[in-house]
Amino acid sequence: MSDQQKKNAGEAAAAHVEAGMVVGLGTGSTAAWFVKALAARNLPDLRCVPTSERTADLARELGLTLSTLEDTPRIDLTVDGADEIGPGLALIKGGGAALLREKLVWEASSRCICIADAAKVVPVLGTFPLPIEVVAFGHKTTANRIADVLADHDIPMPARVRQADRGLIRTDGGNLIYDAACKVINDPARLAADLKSLTGVVEHGLFLDLTDLAIIGTDAGFETIN
Ligand code: 5RP
Repeated sequence: MSDQQKKNAGEAAAAHVEAGMVVGLGTGSTAAWFVKALAARNLPDLRCVPTSERTADLARELGLTLSTLEDTPRIDLTVDGADEIGPGLALIKGGGAALLREKLVWEASSRCICIADAAKVVPVLGTFPLPIEVVAFGHKTTANRIADVLADHDIPMPARVRQADRGLIRTDGGNLIYDAACKVINDPARLAADLKSLTGVVEHGLFLDLTDLAIIGTDAGFETIN
């Protein structure tokens, strides 16, 4: 993981923003570099839709004008990080537990740019545990259903609920996160559909067919994948 690479990617993405745009702001350390670079450009008439309370706080601090999906339902460009970038720009996201708001914002966007350090690019998705957002009510029952789906995808390990010292992690929406150590996801589209079909699963971290461009930070600058 390289902070310089994340910074280079964030700064390169900020160059894609034009005055007057509605911009989706991602969540995480790479997205934070983008938010800082965007604020530094001081473009007129920007409205920014943050994907988490964390990002909202940072953007507010830096003087960016915030909006919501309700007030600006069409977003011109969203820039966000990823935990893994696989073939076809299929992503795993949600390491920062913001996947639901992220996906809502990405799906409302005309264009999405994924920014990351070089270590995030992988030949096959699944080494990074796949985050699955689950309603707290009855979550252990939902976890059993998730385990059945995972087993059907040759993933023997059940997903584990995400916790910190202070207890279970809650998302901005008050839900829980289960992380599935898939190791290899052979059919991301089928897994995405099967997880989404479960009552109690709110969203999963597979972002498929949503990325228009990936900007990968290098030590000296950046490379692009599209
Ligand atoms: C948050 C995310 C982040 O974009 C992802 O976890 C990457 O984070 P970072 O840029 O800190 O490596 O999906 O839910």
